[in-house]
Amino acid sequence: MIAIYPGSFDPITLGHLDIIKRGGNLFDRVIVAVLRNPNKNPLFTMEERMLQIQEATAHLDNVEVDTFTGLTVTYAHLKQAKVLIRGLRAVSDFELELQMAHTNKTLANDIETVFLSTSNEYSFLSSSVVREIARFGGAIDHLVTPEVAIALRQKFQDFKAS
Ligand code: PNS
Repeated sequence: MIAIYPGSFDPITLGHLDIIKRGGNLFDRVIVAVLRNPNKNPLFTMEERMLQIQEATAHLDNVEVDTFTGLTVTYAHLKQAKVLIRGLRAVSDFELELQMAHTNKTLANDIETVFLSTSNEYSFLSSSVVREIARFGGAIDHLVTPEVAIALRQKFQDFKAS
């Protein structure tokens, strides 16, 4: 069975990676699908984000990385995926995630959303938290892969320099 793990991944965190690994244990193939969202102004370009995810998941045989625009369920149909994976960190995630799952179910009844509870150690972690810490020079090495940590430091150095 093919599963899609959709998101912004700006950037990928160890919390995302934990969900990807566990999704890979459950499904034959996991496609990490990065949304190309014209309404958002991401820190990292699409190419940077995809490369970061590819590096972080290179050791996982059944995981691949792709990009999509538009509706997640349309993309899932295109890929013949039957499952959308989403991570749930805390009750605060639940409302929006349930709304998304219900919306997606009304759009495509053949696709199920499967929620994986985020591992305890990453329950506070999000891409925006990581961006915020990096912006102010805080320690991020326990939150992201070494490659992403380097990229974050570089990005904020570039901002300071410009
Ligand atoms: O990493 P994020 O930003 O929490 O991911 C959100 C995402 C990409 C899963 C969600 O915004 C999405 O699925 N967008 C595509 C548009 C869509 O399908 N909308 C209908 C479901 S609400």
